[in-house]
Amino acid sequence: MQNPLIIANWKMKLLPSQSLDLARKLKKASSKYAGAEVVVCPSFTEIAQVGEIIKDTNIKLGAQDCFWEEQGAFTGEVSPKSLLDYGVEYILVGHSERRQNLSETGDMIHKKVRLLFTLDITPVLCIGETFEERQDGLKDVVLTRQLHNALNGLWLNKGDKLVIAYEPVWVIGSGQDVDPEEIGHTHQIINQVLYDIFENSVVKDQIKVIYGGSVDPENVGAYISKASVQGALVGTASLDATQFSAIVVQAKKS
Ligand code: 13P
Repeated sequence: MQNPLIIANWKMKLLPSQSLDLARKLKKASSKYAGAEVVVCPSFTEIAQVGEIIKDTNIKLGAQDCFWEEQGAFTGEVSPKSLLDYGVEYILVGHSERRQNLSETGDMIHKKVRLLFTLDITPVLCIGETFEERQDGLKDVVLTRQLHNALNGLWLNKGDKLVIAYEPVWVIGSGQDVDPEEIGHTHQIINQVLYDIFENSVVKDQIKVIYGGSVDPENVGAYISKASVQGALVGTASLDATQFSAIVVQAKKS
């Protein structure tokens, strides 16, 4: 298998001093990350300083969101072009917490993904069903709709990369393990939809599908051992350098 992609999403959970402290600890641990692709997504307010700390390591810089225009009268928004200047290589798009709390729509998400391709930043498109949707047997329908809304009409040029992060909304922050068989199966369905949208070679060579939702050092191996799961998006367990490093090490073994 390719090197697993492990992305840390620190959300809005750390004060500046805590973010910098965590970044320094990850830098110290980073020799363990060889053989994995590791990305950290701090808050915007710490992007520059965290970027400084991890530069010259194998840890890459990500952001948790961006706006869908490069520049203009958009008070309070953050341009992906500015993020690029700070060395950001990955940006989360359409996280369920933004879809739910900020009413982010499929159209907004589509525009963000489209812009990121033009800037050579890798979008990490987050998709996932709620518990009610799952109970109603709508999981596949919801994931298919979210993928089509975000990606229809877009194309990847040579060199462009895309990451899909499947995060069941009901698992995020819950501490629950999900049957790895189910996760593997859901990832296969996601791949089927991607094959409907893009050419086969694009899906195979330029797109990764990763899993997120209460990933920890104990369960990551079981998820990543599924061929269709190419990495993890980690929230809570990414806030502790020891736990996060253990996740990376386990993922490499699987
Ligand atoms: P947890 O790992 O805390 O469940 O968060 C997952 C997540 O939302 C990452 O984007």
